[in-house]
Amino acid sequence: MTGAEETGDGDTDASGVVRRDRFSGGPARGFMSSLAADERIFAADLAVDRAHAVMLAEQEIIGDDVAGEILAALDDVESAGHGALPDGEDVHEAIETAVVDRVGPDGGKMHTARSRNDEVATCIRYRLRADLLDAIEATIALREALVETAAAHVDTVMPGYTHLQPAQPTTVAHFLLSYESAVARDTARLLDAYDRTNRSPLGAAAFAGTPFDVDRERTADLLGFDGVVENSMDASAGRDFLAEATAALATHATTVSGLAEDLVIFANKGFVDLADEYSSTSSIMPQKVNPDTLELVRAVAGDAVGGLTGLLTTLKGLPRAYNRDLQRATPHAWETVDAVSEATAVAAGAVATSEWPAETLEAEAGAGFSTATGVADALAMAGVPFRTAHEVLAAAAERADGETPDLATLDAVAADVLGESLFEYVSRERVEAALDPVQSVASRDSVGGPAPEAVASQLDGSEAGIDADQTALEERGDALEDATEMLQTEVAHYV
Ligand code: ARG
Repeated sequence: MTGAEETGDGDTDASGVVRRDRFSGGPARGFMSSLAADERIFAADLAVDRAHAVMLAEQEIIGDDVAGEILAALDDVESAGHGALPDGEDVHEAIETAVVDRVGPDGGKMHTARSRNDEVATCIRYRLRADLLDAIEATIALREALVETAAAHVDTVMPGYTHLQPAQPTTVAHFLLSYESAVARDTARLLDAYDRTNRSPLGAAAFAGTPFDVDRERTADLLGFDGVVENSMDASAGRDFLAEATAALATHATTVSGLAEDLVIFANKGFVDLADEYSSTSSIMPQKVNPDTLELVRAVAGDAVGGLTGLLTTLKGLPRAYNRDLQRATPHAWETVDAVSEATAVAAGAVATSEWPAETLEAEAGAGFSTATGVADALAMAGVPFRTAHEVLAAAAERADGETPDLATLDAVAADVLGESLFEYVSRERVEAALDPVQSVASRDSVGGPAPEAVASQLDGSEAGIDADQTALEERGDALEDATEMLQTEVAHYV
C-alpha cells in the first residue's frame, strides 16, 4: 500500500489526520499498521471515544454541541463498521479520521487530553475483560461437566496410575475431581487476572498526564472499570495484565492438556467411550475411531505456551514508557484466549458425553497387583513396621510376576521375611478385603481420598466452589452491562 492512495469514502489522504503528509509510503507503512488486527478492539475504541467525549464535555473542556457532533459521528462510524474505516496506522487513528471527515475540524477535539498510548491500553483492557469472562465461563462449564460425571461414578472403581503403571485402585469420580480441583484454581487465577485487568489507564495521555482538568474516575466508571491505573507512565506502558492473563490461560491449557492425554490413554484401553462427535475416523483404515478432538485439545497447550512466550519475549527489556513493540505484544494474548477458551469448551463437551464402562474398569482395577499397598497397610496396622511390610509385599509381587499373588504365596513370603505366618498378624478376611479393589478403595477414606464418603465431601466442596465462581462471574458481567447502559444514557444527552 502506498501513502498516496485515496481510501475510504471521504477525501482524506490515506495517511489520515494524525500523520497527514508528514510521512509517506514505502514498505514501512503496511508494516506499521495494526488496523486489520485492531478489528478486535473496534467496539472497544468506540466506547472509549464516547466515554472520553462525554467526560470532556462534562469537564467543559469541549462544548456540549461539539460533543454531540462527535458522538453522532461515532454512531455513524459504528454502523458503517470496521471495514468501512479509512486507511490509518491503527483503529484509533482511522476512527478519528472518520470522525473528522464527518464533523470537520472540530472532530479533532475528540483527541484532546489523551494519546493513542492511553487509548490503546484502555481498549485492550476493555476487550480483554470480555474475553476473560468468556474464558472463566468455559472453565466453570468444564468443572460442571467434571462434577456431573463424577457424581455418577462415585462407586465406579478403576485403575489408578503413577508412571503410567498400575498403582492403586481408585474411582472414576476421584480421578475426575482431581481435574476439577485444578481447573477451580485456573478459574481463580483468571478471576484475579480479570480484576487486575479491570482498571482504566485512560487520562494517562502519552505517559506524562495532561494539563487539562480530566476526570479519570469518571471515564473509568463510564467504561465499567473498577478504578484507574494511577501512575500515568505505568498506565500507558504497563502490559503485565496481559502477561498475567496469558499466563493464567497457559497454566489452564496445561491442566486441560493432561486431562485430554488421560482421556486419550483411557480411550485406547477401552476405559472410556467418547461420543462420536469427539472422535474421528481414518480415511484409509475403516476400523479406526480416533480421539482426534482430544489430541487437538492437548495441542492447544502448545499454542498457549507459545503465546505466553511470544508475549513475554516481546515485553522483556522494554524501557518506559510507550514503545511500538507493544503493538505486536497484544495479538499473542488474543490468539491465546481464543484457542484456550475453545479447547476448554471442547474438553467440557467430551467429558459431559463420556461413558465409563464400570465392568471393564472394575475388572482392571486390581491389575498389576495394584492392591499390594493395601496389604502392606494392613500389616503395618497390625504393628509390623511399614518398611518391613513393604518388603513382604515386594517379595510377593516379584514371586507373582506382576499378577496378584494368592494367599498361599503371600503367606509363604511373609514366613520368609517375618519368620511367622501372615495370619498371625492379619486375618484371612482382612487380607482378602485388602486384595479386593472395591474394598481397597472403600478403606482409603482419609480426607480427599477415593472412598465414596470422602469423595462425597469433595463433590460438595466442588459444587460450592462452582456456585461461588458462577456468582463472581455474573457480578462482573452485570457490572459491565450496567456500565454499557450508563454510557448509552450519558451519550443520549448529547445526540
Ligand atoms: N497501535 C498502537 C498499539 O497497538 C497504538 C498506537 C500508539 N502509537 C504510537 N506511535 N505511540 O500499541
